[in-house]
Amino acid sequence: MKILNFGSLNCDNVYTVPHMVKAGETLSSASLEIFPGGKGLNQSIALARAGAQVCHAGLIGEDGRFLVKLAEENGVDCSLVELRPGRTGHAVIQVDPSGQNCILLYGGANQLVDEAYIRRALAGFGPGDLLLLQNEMNLPERMIDLAWEMGLTVALNPSPCSAALAKCDFRKVEWLILNELEGAALSGEPDVKKLPKAILQRFPHMKVVLTLGANGARYADSERQFFQPAFSVKAVDTTGAGDTFTGFFLAAVLEGKEVPEALLLASRAAALAVSRKGAASSIPARAEVDGGGGTRGYDAF
Ligand code: RIB
Repeated sequence: MKILNFGSLNCDNVYTVPHMVKAGETLSSASLEIFPGGKGLNQSIALARAGAQVCHAGLIGEDGRFLVKLAEENGVDCSLVELRPGRTGHAVIQVDPSGQNCILLYGGANQLVDEAYIRRALAGFGPGDLLLLQNEMNLPERMIDLAWEMGLTVALNPSPCSAALAKCDFRKVEWLILNELEGAALSGEPDVKKLPKAILQRFPHMKVVLTLGANGARYADSERQFFQPAFSVKAVDTTGAGDTFTGFFLAAVLEGKEVPEALLLASRAAALAVSRKGAASSIPARAEVDGGGGTRGYDAF
């Protein structure tokens, strides 16, 4: 099975702030650091650091070459990444003393996807392969439709939640990996214990993974439910923790691990990521995550 991650590449401008800036306020930051990021890039690097073979498709401007270099250094196949005129996507990220973040996105090249590019990227893939995507590029609905027609399995991390998702045919999505805000927006169910079931009522074929930050993670399909508690760590920067979780979880499942084992591995990886600065650069290597201890989650029925 081959994995194609069709995803954003961003330059993350990270500002250390005493609190998140409020409407009308002018606030000084203590530092500015530039990190590689983008949910797509982060998830490709997480997959690769977890040991999976992954091919990344995405778009950059000239200023984004360092992002491709980093992905390649981590073993990600970037032969499908293309250059576009103009700027690479970027993010303005505030990180407060508790490690929480606020992210403002500028789409840049990430928003220049067209149908021809999607077809070129998918051309080397077929039945049994997996397409992973997030919601930071335009035309996610076409990526899903075309991959489905070609027999690929689709894994969607619908992040950030936006109106674009209304065009996506969720019946074609097998793996849905999302946080509680995205889950509540998609299902209308604010209670995280009921949320996976609410999604499964509409899409019974799905495998739903709900990430809850410090409150752990939940998995549900039509037959099983699991809960994995989070590891307790001092959060330095939560940026990219969800992406780390997604990459490690999928890599573990695709290598044949049972869901509870995959949840445990992904939770360990995400805990390590939040204890470090940056997004892509905070993702641990598989060797750091394996054998890291912790309690395997339990059946949530
Ligand atoms: O999930 C974290 C990522 O979201 C950051 O790297 C930023 O680029 C935004 O895409």
